[in-house]
Amino acid sequence: APSDPDLVERARAAKAKLGDKVFVLGHHYQRDEVIEFADVTGDSFKLARDAAARPEAEYIVFCGVHFMAESADILTSAGQQVVLPDLAAGCSMADMASAEQVAECWDVLTEAGIADVTVPVSYMNSSADIKAFTGRHGGTICTSSNARRALEWAFGDGDGDGGGAGGRKVLFLPDQHLGRNTAVRDLGMSLDDCVVYNPHKPGGGLTPQQLRDARMILWRGHCSVHGRFSLDSVNDVRERMPGVNVLVHPECKHEVVSAADYVGSTEYIIRTLDAAPAGSKWAIGTELNLVRRLANRYAAEGKEIAFLDKTVCFCSTMNRIDLPHLVWALESLADGTVVNRIQVDEETEKFAKLALERMLALP
Ligand code: 13P
Ligand code: SF4
Repeated sequence: APSDPDLVERARAAKAKLGDKVFVLGHHYQRDEVIEFADVTGDSFKLARDAAARPEAEYIVFCGVHFMAESADILTSAGQQVVLPDLAAGCSMADMASAEQVAECWDVLTEAGIADVTVPVSYMNSSADIKAFTGRHGGTICTSSNARRALEWAFGDGDGDGGGAGGRKVLFLPDQHLGRNTAVRDLGMSLDDCVVYNPHKPGGGLTPQQLRDARMILWRGHCSVHGRFSLDSVNDVRERMPGVNVLVHPECKHEVVSAADYVGSTEYIIRTLDAAPAGSKWAIGTELNLVRRLANRYAAEGKEIAFLDKTVCFCSTMNRIDLPHLVWALESLADGTVVNRIQVDEETEKFAKLALERMLALP
């Protein structure tokens, strides 16, 4: 539906009043009405870098979800304030790993005698606490666009074979699918090299021997949006659209990623469609706001872009940031009131930053 013209006008006016004092970041899964006011759009990695590169902006308005705003707060300087227009914009995947559960898991690994050879690699989609845990234990953060390099770094033993020194292992948090897909597709591991640690079961539901035999210990978390795509969705679309290219996000299940033609982050998805020839057909397995926007954008070039599954699938928390919330945040800032500030405490920030900086330094 078209945006309320009154709200559009108010957003424009508040942004104009704030000028360079405000910088608005928008994740690709945001609604069109919000993207319209973003100074920059991107995937999680690009937005983290862009937030860090705006020291002149007093206010960073993050149109995305809570863990992204936290990461922006960690990476920006002390004088800058990060605002999330709706505090209820969380991420169900990030909520699947709590600090207590992860500390308990580390105890389990310690008891199995493998904590000293295990490197935590945490997906950006995690709370600041989990990032701090990662930093404290010598690990790195990754996003879907650098997961391969993060794993190579974690397993690397300097000889470039990615084989790891002394039986090194990775504890991958919290998305089991990104972890498995990257280990198997990009590092050539077998599915048997991976075990799934279930935080709701004693010992993660694994024996100490299973933990010792594994190379990848995958946290039992997933994205509820990308979890909707199935092998059937891929088979159905291939039947429905002969000649279609299937392009999916690596948060999809392994069987979906294995059956797809292309796999990558939201930024990769956009780049791939940009470069696609006119007349080509694409089925995209990611969030619906982005797929719709791309379908409209490329229709004029004769590229046919469809949603991988017929059932509608927005990310409900990303969608919480809408034009009324954005207007409220911008108008409050323009009036000198900082609302919905996201602020990570100093101790957490110190170690979370270490892990984020390791990611930013990956080759
Ligand atoms: P990217 O934008 O990094 O691909 O991440 C997708 C996602 O699910 C963000 O929550
Ligand atoms: Fe979290 Fe999935 Fe939504 Fe991304 S799309 S914010 S991973 S629930």
